[in-house]
Amino acid sequence: MAQLSPLLKQATPVQAARGEGVYLYDTDDRRFLDFTAGIGVTSTGHCHPAVVQAAQEQVATLIHGQYTTVMHQPLLRLVERMGEVLPDGIDSVFFTNSGSEAVEASVRLARQATDRQLVVAFDGGFHGRTMGAAALTTSGAKIRAGIGPMMGGVAFSPFPYAYRYGWSEEQAVAFALSELDRQLASTAPAADVAAFIVEPVLGEGGYVPTPAAFLQGLRERADRHGILLIADEVQTGYGRTGKFWGHQHTEGFVPDIIVTAKGLASGFPLSAIAAPKAIMEKAWPGSQGGTYGGNAVACAAALATLEVVQKENLVENARVQGEKLIAGVRESAQHHPVIGDVRGRGLMVGIEFVDAEGKPDGATAAKVHAAAAAQGLLLLTCGVYGNVVRMIPPLVVTAEQIDEGLALWAKTLDDALG
Ligand SMILES: Cc1ncc(COP(=O)(O)O)c(C=O)c1O
Repeated sequence: MAQLSPLLKQATPVQAARGEGVYLYDTDDRRFLDFTAGIGVTSTGHCHPAVVQAAQEQVATLIHGQYTTVMHQPLLRLVERMGEVLPDGIDSVFFTNSGSEAVEASVRLARQATDRQLVVAFDGGFHGRTMGAAALTTSGAKIRAGIGPMMGGVAFSPFPYAYRYGWSEEQAVAFALSELDRQLASTAPAADVAAFIVEPVLGEGGYVPTPAAFLQGLRERADRHGILLIADEVQTGYGRTGKFWGHQHTEGFVPDIIVTAKGLASGFPLSAIAAPKAIMEKAWPGSQGGTYGGNAVACAAALATLEVVQKENLVENARVQGEKLIAGVRESAQHHPVIGDVRGRGLMVGIEFVDAEGKPDGATAAKVHAAAAAQGLLLLTCGVYGNVVRMIPPLVVTAEQIDEGLALWAKTLDDALG
């Protein structure tokens, strides 16, 4: 008899039978408030009627129009629609199936377009589990352990994680940029660097918003040295942070390559990279492709997702509800000294647990996380030590549902911590 791999771990014991909006229902029809959104994927909520309708219609019309063999309408329409929301000048899009695959496509593009090899990633970053993406990832040993040698040509530089360093944001940014400068002058010579890859909010690494001054510092160095700047918006993209793209929190900042996935198609496997045509044209013709990329049903769902995001003002809703959520979480944190920091942007909220000495406390975070699931509130953890509990509600969440989540969270803390 076959069984599921024992290496695949679930964060909660819930067996999901169906989903509707912000709620998941288990096989006994018990309701859970889903503040995980499938790790930031179901932005329009579970089974949004417009997404369901678009996917159902497409399933009955064309499921697989393999895009290196033929072209299909949902893909062309999606490119056109994405052109309306991508930053000016970022006008060429290539579709893949997962965040990891898109990250690897961005590295492939950057290396070919610059004819350079090195990629600089930042400590605590998460860019995926496939071998190339894992080589850029330092959010936890489980992604890298036992699989080396890793892909070469990767250098790591500090991320300005001010709370963990015990510094102000300005000090952390100054430190991270001066370490980057040291790397560019020594271990990762600037003339050999193809790209910097950075998340607009450090995600799996602990939900730390990337300071604007850091992104500006990267942009300035990238321009000075002919390095491409890749924004890994897999988790932050499509409104989650309260702006359409996570990098837009940094005024005037535009990356060279955007990687997007999770929130793109409300749960259908679709990811993409976008870059100026002039950069795409420098890479090898035919070097982009894949069997399933730009699947017709996923593209139809993505078109419906974008429509819903815009029609229902979900970017603004993420900003408003995110502010409400973070304020409520900060309020309840006051009664619990094990919560060292509460931070976030939009509907990405992280709650960092620490011990009496201020060190990361993964055990307490895990206890609280499990207690929340038992209360009916689904959350996730993140951080190098699993010491951050994160809340990622779908972008359709209402003020009443935020209140419901905050009440469950306060009760969870009281029950689990006393
Ligand atoms: C920032 C970021 N990049 C890349 C990935 C990898 O995406 P996937 O799991 O779809 O391969 C993730 C997934 O969590 C992510 O958060």
